[in-house]
Amino acid sequence: MYTHENLRGRAAVITGGSGVLCSAMAKELAKQGVRIALINRTLEKGQIIVDEIRALGGEAVAYSADVLDRPSLEQVRDQIIASFGQVDILITGAGGNQPGATTTNEVFGEGDASQTFFDMDAQAFSKVFDLNFTGTFLTSQVFGKELLKSKNPVILNISSMSAYSPMTKVPAYSAAKASINNFTMWMAVHFAEAGLRVNALAPGFFLTEQNRKLLTNEDGSLTDRSHKIMTHTPMRRFGKPEDLLGTMLWLVDERYSGFVTGVTVPVDGGFMAYSGV
Ligand SMILES: NC(=O)c1ccc[n+]([C@@H]2O[C@H](COP(=O)([O-])OP(=O)(O)OC[C@H]3O[C@@H](n4cnc5c(N)ncnc54)[C@H](O)[C@@H]3O)[C@@H](O)[C@H]2O)c1
Repeated sequence: MYTHENLRGRAAVITGGSGVLCSAMAKELAKQGVRIALINRTLEKGQIIVDEIRALGGEAVAYSADVLDRPSLEQVRDQIIASFGQVDILITGAGGNQPGATTTNEVFGEGDASQTFFDMDAQAFSKVFDLNFTGTFLTSQVFGKELLKSKNPVILNISSMSAYSPMTKVPAYSAAKASINNFTMWMAVHFAEAGLRVNALAPGFFLTEQNRKLLTNEDGSLTDRSHKIMTHTPMRRFGKPEDLLGTMLWLVDERYSGFVTGVTVPVDGGFMAYSGV
């Protein structure tokens, strides 16, 4: 059933498309008749999602590229244009964190810490910042010219609650996501007259592979950090990937959001609205 009929036949490029959140977006867009190009570093992971989409009658192709490697993105762009002939939607979902760019403790001087602020590896810090920010910038540059040939082009960036007030322990990730909000506004202004809309989605807390170790113990029970998240999420649950889909469809479909550009929309169960008291 197509609920967004005018998206039918369009082509979407989704980086990080084999991940938990973006694979759900890919499947929903495919249901609307959008042709999907998934970009991940590991082709096999993208292929699993492509097979699922095809089994449901959708059209999708998996590609391997690193969002920090321009030549690999350019090569994939040329392949996508050769097979789909166009790019109308870009979702920049590739992102994540890594242990070298985190502090062990939330607060300096609190108990034993294997990694304090001063021990953080500058290279790991840059890698996390680059993956979440520069990866979005490079992808926008590489696919931007193709998007500008589309009648209704749109970019949807993926931000985080950490963009507004940084999550403890993950400074590089938080700084990069804050940059995504800023860059979304910059791009929206820069390309408004050219007809390209640029918005972002800021998910609250979703239990996925990239944060499973921070949020659950080995026996599956919630960590102290998860209990804090629940306390600060008025809807008292983690998000489910499906929770993002309505906002995604709204933002990529100009019939519903044709005058919306430069915004980041929280999908967070009320996390951002809650002051803690
Ligand atoms: N899970 C959450 O609670 C949450 C909250 C807010 C924002 N986000 C953001 O949503 C996006 C998706 O997150 P997720 O939870 O589905 O994570 P995920 O780990 O399941 O997916 C991330 C995807 O990015 C891909 N990727 C990583 N580095 C790459 C690179 N250099 N080049 C190409 N692809 C690369 C991975 O292969 C993976 O498919 C990320 O940007 C993340 O920061 C997640």
